Amino acid sequence: MEGALTARDRVGIQDFVLLDTHTSETAFLGNLKKRFSEDLIYTYIGTLLVSVNPYKELDIYSKKQMDIYMGVNFFELPPHIYALADNAYHTMMAEANNHFILISGESGAGKTEASKKILQYYAVSCPSTTLLDSVRDRMLVSNPVLEAFGNAKTLKNDNSSRFGKYMDIQFDIQGDAVGGHILSYLLEKSRVVHQNHGERNFHIFYQLVEGGEEDLLHQLGLESNCQHYSYLVQNECANVTSINDKNDWKTVRNALSVIDFDESDIQHLFGIIASVLHLGNVQFEADSKGYATLNKNTELRWVSTLLGINVQVLQEGLTYRKIEAKTDEVLSPFTVDHAIYARNALAKAIYGRTFTWLVNKINDSMENKEPSRKTVIGLLDIYGFEVFYVNSFEQFCINYCNEKLQQLFIQLTLKSEQEEYEAEGIGWEPVQFFNNKIICDLVEEKHLGIISVLDEECLRPGEATDFTFLEKLEEKMGSHPHFITSVNNTRGGECSEFAQLVLSIHCVCVCVCVCVYVCTQVMRQSKNAIVRECFASTESDSRRRPETVASQFKSSLLGLTDILMSKEPWYVRCLKSNESKQPGRFDDVLVRHQVKYLGLMEHLRVRRAGFAYRRRYELFLQRYKPLCPATWPHWRGVAAEGVEVLVQHLGYLPDEYKMGRTKIFIRHPRTLFATEDAFEVCKHKLGKGMKARRNQEIIETCWRGVQARKEKERRQWAVKVIKKFIKGYMTRGEAKTTDNSEYLAFVRQNYLNRLKDNLPKTVLDKISWLTPPPVLTEASAILRQLHMRVMVTRYVRGITAQQKAQLQLKGITSVIFKDKKDSYPQSVSQPFVDTRISEQDINMKVLQIIRHERIKYSVPVVKYDRNGFKPRPRQLILTQTAAYVVDEAKIKQKVHALHALEHGGDLVIQCDHLFEVLTKLSVVANKQSAINVVQGSWLMFISSISFQIQAGKEGIVDFSSGQESMVYKDKNGHLMVVIPYCDCFQRKKSNKQFLKQEFRLDCLRVV
Ligand SMILES: Nc1ncnc2c1ncn2[C@@H]1O[C@H](COP(=O)(O)OP(=O)(O)OP(=O)(O)O)[C@@H](O)[C@H]1O
Ligand SMILES: [Mg+2]
Repeated sequence: MEGALTARDRVGIQDFVLLDTHTSETAFLGNLKKRFSEDLIYTYIGTLLVSVNPYKELDIYSKKQMDIYMGVNFFELPPHIYALADNAYHTMMAEANNHFILISGESGAGKTEASKKILQYYAVSCPSTTLLDSVRDRMLVSNPVLEAFGNAKTLKNDNSSRFGKYMDIQFDIQGDAVGGHILSYLLEKSRVVHQNHGERNFHIFYQLVEGGEEDLLHQLGLESNCQHYSYLVQNECANVTSINDKNDWKTVRNALSVIDFDESDIQHLFGIIASVLHLGNVQFEADSKGYATLNKNTELRWVSTLLGINVQVLQEGLTYRKIEAKTDEVLSPFTVDHAIYARNALAKAIYGRTFTWLVNKINDSMENKEPSRKTVIGLLDIYGFEVFYVNSFEQFCINYCNEKLQQLFIQLTLKSEQEEYEAEGIGWEPVQFFNNKIICDLVEEKHLGIISVLDEECLRPGEATDFTFLEKLEEKMGSHPHFITSVNNTRGGECSEFAQLVLSIHCVCVCVCVCVYVCTQVMRQSKNAIVRECFASTESDSRRRPETVASQFKSSLLGLTDILMSKEPWYVRCLKSNESKQPGRFDDVLVRHQVKYLGLMEHLRVRRAGFAYRRRYELFLQRYKPLCPATWPHWRGVAAEGVEVLVQHLGYLPDEYKMGRTKIFIRHPRTLFATEDAFEVCKHKLGKGMKARRNQEIIETCWRGVQARKEKERRQWAVKVIKKFIKGYMTRGEAKTTDNSEYLAFVRQNYLNRLKDNLPKTVLDKISWLTPPPVLTEASAILRQLHMRVMVTRYVRGITAQQKAQLQLKGITSVIFKDKKDSYPQSVSQPFVDTRISEQDINMKVLQIIRHERIKYSVPVVKYDRNGFKPRPRQLILTQTAAYVVDEAKIKQKVHALHALEHGGDLVIQCDHLFEVLTKLSVVANKQSAINVVQGSWLMFISSISFQIQAGKEGIVDFSSGQESMVYKDKNGHLMVVIPYCDCFQRKKSNKQFLKQEFRLDCLRVV
């Protein structure tokens, strides 16, 4: 922005805060005019945009222009409505909060045009998708529809908005425009039945009559000629050169289909418009008593057909008033004047409510139903403040609304200024300004304000007239410094805008009462769906006096203020350059007047309270660093310190500037201009160097662009991969499709990789196999088998002949004992030895006797005599052919060779290493099945086995538990074997069984 200061003599200053004589209205206007003459219609006051209506098409709204302003710092380019729109958008995105743009100005100043430009900017600049495009289309086409129904030609503006419009544009978290919502304020309904000289009714009436297709007009009973309709020709202004009703009709028809209007909606809607036109032509005659009658009125029949209401009921509603007396209802006939009044009231009510219905319908079509978080930018295009010779009630409301917004504006501007000073740590200097709260209070104060007085006057018994109302006002607020009426206007006070409004207020209230019966009772019977909806039966009926229009408006304004107060403000102030709508004409008096009542000088004064100019240190340093050798070409330190060095070098006096936390504040524009001029001179000197630097910057920019594009591609690729991965994950259980094939391949590879590193290491590890994903269940089972086979093969290859023999023996042990003996799991792992008695320890005689048989194994045992069960230590020797029990003590005399497996009579032997002994025995005898393991109970029962003492004589061995280990002959003649408890517990523990559970004693019988 500062760059343009060089041309300031020619095109003026782009930001009024840089005006040296900022309190001078003349200087302000001079700057505006200078810029206007160069077709520069926009100027800033800080972040507020002042716009002057050029009344001609300027080439500044193209797509190219939009691209220039997209994402660029507010002050880097000449002022533009796009810069403001773009900044509001980017601030909203960065801070994730809500904003609004308040567009104000008098009628014809360009508010609606400005709001359309902002909407178009968002439509073009925000990211787009097919779905969003349709939302955006609806937002854009809602404009011509609303303008057709809510705008009209007035003396001031050929397309004047006759309602206030607040539109929220909703953005999602990515910054896409995803929905919209419109609030409308106080439609000027009186225009339906009456227009001032040189003005027209709402556009839609002329569009339908002029542009409507023959068939449609025939259906609606209309002629293609505005002159036939008294509501349209009161001021002989049906045709206006600047308006092409036929073309506008086509636009509106197309727009209606874009915003979801079906054929029946459209039929009902135009039925209503036509019925209002017919209603306007309904003529009443006076009967002999002067009462209104309606005989053979074809226009009324059309109204009846189009609204689907019985013609008799309609006729009664228009010519009688319903009076409620205690329990009865009495119909009192209208005079012709009253009937005309009721007819007009009905026309206004139908049109007004249809307009509200239309806004709701448009809202439905723009609504975004996604529950996700959204931020909004609100656009407020509010009707302008105006003072006429005679001001209508609506104008009173409009002016009141503008006063209210002005108050909000002052509050918010002061607040934001104070906040900025506070944030920057700079002392706030109080500003003198006119606070219009006193005027708002005059209108809205409870019990005391104009609206309260009006309400009271409507409610009080007795006849209330405009005059009595005026008297009441005089009585209550006659002494107020800002209250002036035509009666007391001797003061020539400043705010004479309220002076003449009051005279017409009361008429509105009377009108409301008269038409209640027709509106609510009769319209509810309508077969036209829109009318029925608009006059729904839930509405309170005539029994309760309705809230006055003024009170309703006051409440809706309070609602609007709340909406605005919760958002961050941006302002566009529109000025009208001349009254005659001529391009290039700048009417000083007219503009001065607008500047004054729009409070622009006040705003400038607030903005200039202390310092004219403020800029972030980085930006200031970036621009002016060539002016100081210490900062040129680079300042390596903190930006604030660089700025300090720079301004010291430039010779700024201490009073001329202040260093804030992030910004430098410069008190007078002249300081900045001097710096700027120095910069211009320096720029030329640096000429060549600058050019080289620019080239360098271009190359740098290009290179960064390449990098950024690459990064963008990489991210886009990543997004695709992640999306595909997520989709694959979600469909992982389904059959292979293009969506999940890559994911499944990834899962497979990943599993196999992990499996490779986590394979079981030994054949005994049967649990640590990785759980496979469902898609690999079968493959995993096969792999597991394979792996086990590989491990087994490897193991088998690695074992020695000795280990092999051992394993074979263990195999036999397993066949004999597994699942039959409790101690099997612990005992089986004990390695078997070749023999337990070395040959030196065997009696020589024995060795001689059995020398021809090879000794396979020998072990010490205890043999119990078969009769007396006397224990005798023996050696059990197994040879290739027999088992010998050798008595060591008597060895010198004889050796008993007991062919235990062949002779009658059993041997009762106790030995350790049971598995080893019996396995070897069974191998030698080649009779594994001869070993019988008998199990008994330790706690419950004493287990026993029987044996043969000799042929035909049986002996018994009982097993029991006790304190210590014992074997003895019991009283019953059995051999009792006692196992100590501790052994039992030991075994129990190792078996992981509970103490009180059944414990088994094992008895073996070798047959
Ligand atoms: N930026 C602009 N460029 C060219 N012409 C403009 C511009 N702004 C406004 N105009 C012209 O001025 C006319 C009136 O503008 P607009 O309808 O926006 O006024 P308004 O402030 O909305 O008035 P009202 O309060 O009556 O609705 C437009 O129809 C258009 O011809
Ligand atoms: Mg407008």
